[in-house]
Amino acid sequence: MADGLPMTVPAEGLPSRVRIYEVGPRDGLQNEKGIVPVEVKAEFVHRLYEAGLRDAVEVTSFVHPRWVPQLADAEELVPLLADLPDELPRPVLVPNSRGAERALAHGCRHVAVFASATESFAKANLNRTVDESLAMFEPVLRRAKSEGQWVRGYVSMCFGDPWEGPVPAEQVVRVCRALVDMGCDQLSLGDTIGVATPGQVVRLLRLLNEAGVPDELLAVHFHDTYGQALANTLAALQHGVTTVDASAGGLGGCPYAKSATGNLATEDLVWMLRGLGIDTGVDLDKLAATSRWMAERLGRPSPSRTVRALG
Ligand code: HMG
Ligand code: MG
Repeated sequence: MADGLPMTVPAEGLPSRVRIYEVGPRDGLQNEKGIVPVEVKAEFVHRLYEAGLRDAVEVTSFVHPRWVPQLADAEELVPLLADLPDELPRPVLVPNSRGAERALAHGCRHVAVFASATESFAKANLNRTVDESLAMFEPVLRRAKSEGQWVRGYVSMCFGDPWEGPVPAEQVVRVCRALVDMGCDQLSLGDTIGVATPGQVVRLLRLLNEAGVPDELLAVHFHDTYGQALANTLAALQHGVTTVDASAGGLGGCPYAKSATGNLATEDLVWMLRGLGIDTGVDLDKLAATSRWMAERLGRPSPSRTVRALG
């Protein structure tokens, strides 16, 4: 522990390898009040890669620039990442055919559509009903598949919704099934406002398995509003999920969901996995230094407990 690493004691029933899907540059920066200069964003992504995040770094969104002005520089950012090795998946969010065209024009090989389990958030985030948004994704999926792109499907509000309260699991299962049937290669279950607790997570995973959506297709995406993200992650890993979304330094939130705070901090996740003897390939010191560097640019300390403890 003196060298800034936890003692390693493995536990039963956990995967030997966990893939970290880093969302800091997208989920983290979309919620910032100020606009981060594009060169800083590019350096952020490079530093994340250098710190060992090699499974995926979600870099930006090709959404309407008026809806998310913080990411309106997507066209400028993607070329600044061209020197990174092809092996590093760099997914971008695309809500519709227009976004998909923009992503294709910039050579993006990995894209993500983002659905909602609730009508309120579908309306707030996409200006559509749930079914209208699924219909909007269909041509995106068709085109992506014909171009050989890998497609992730997010489902937001899987556990609770700020307007509708607790979300019935059946609603989530229906949207997940629709995205799998459209051809999504992976689904990410979003606890957008961070209200879930472990029993709820495991129940949803079981229901999804019963509906023919296996753990191998699933990722979990926990915001940490109520401090539950790490406990929920451990429950999902014990269930059999092996892909976890996290955000360097715990940045994050959604401008269209009141009470959405930062994501599970990547450093907090890496600390736990390291202690469990699960390899991630991440250099924790380098990653924490990256988050401190980013926090300086944003003008406030990182919300990650591990970043602060290591600092
Ligand atoms: P709309 O106003 O209904 O748009 O917004 P529209 O389809 O009516 O089109 C209006 C105009 O916008 C048209 O231009 C389109 O071409 C243009 P006009 O013909 O009037 O000149 N347009 C676009 N321009 C550039 N790029 C585009 C695009 N699309 C249309 N992609 C829309 C619908 C989906 C566009 C809008 O609602 C939107 O951009 N929403 C994005 C919201 C967002 O990014 N939210 C944050 C990400 S989700 C999240 O954070 C949750 C997650 O982390 C998981 C979790 O935590 O749960 C993923
Ligand atoms: Mg999110």
